[in-house]
Amino acid sequence: MKIKYINRNPEAKEYNRLTDSVGWGIRDEKIIQQALENTLYSLCVYDGDRLIGYGRIIGDKTIFLYIQDIIVIPEYQGKKIGTGIITELLKKVEEYKKVNPNIRTYLGASKGKENFYEKFGFISRPNEELGAGMILKS
Ligand SMILES: CC(C)(COP(=O)(O)OP(=O)(O)OC[C@H]1O[C@@H](n2cnc3c(N)ncnc32)[C@H](O)[C@@H]1OP(=O)(O)O)[C@@H](O)C(=O)NCCC(=O)NCCS
Repeated sequence: MKIKYINRNPEAKEYNRLTDSVGWGIRDEKIIQQALENTLYSLCVYDGDRLIGYGRIIGDKTIFLYIQDIIVIPEYQGKKIGTGIITELLKKVEEYKKVNPNIRTYLGASKGKENFYEKFGFISRPNEELGAGMILKS
């Protein structure tokens, strides 16, 4: 296993392959293409030439960031690749912090995945200070 982390957008097809592999389904490739072009920072993980993981940061670069689409395909899960993705994304967050040390980094954990993110210092809401994270019904 030769794992490489590369800052680039995946092809829309590859992105669909990843989301489908973890049960999130697929989207129209043109929509994906646009979403990826509008992404601040995209991180692909390869074993050789094969895309096996992905994560990205969206946001305004200075006040609010949002970590999205953390995916490791099932056969590679449990091998610390997810840890590698978050570690690399958090290095990028540190870079953005040079402009504003108080930048806020959000994410929405999938059900049952909260523990994975807590290891990196993310806290769940609601808590004493913050209300619940909310999402518009689609
Ligand atoms: C969640 C996910 C990204 C984790 O990646 P991974 O490479 O399997 O995780 P790692 O091997 O780096 O695990 C790191 C730690 O998190 C823990 N962990 C991994 N998956 C977990 C889960 N589903 N729930 C709780 N803890 C989890 C591991 O036990 C490990 O703990 P340790 O450091 O004490 O040994 C991966 O399982 C995945 O892609 N799942 C499907 C898509 C998904 O749900 N993504 C998250 C969206 S919010």
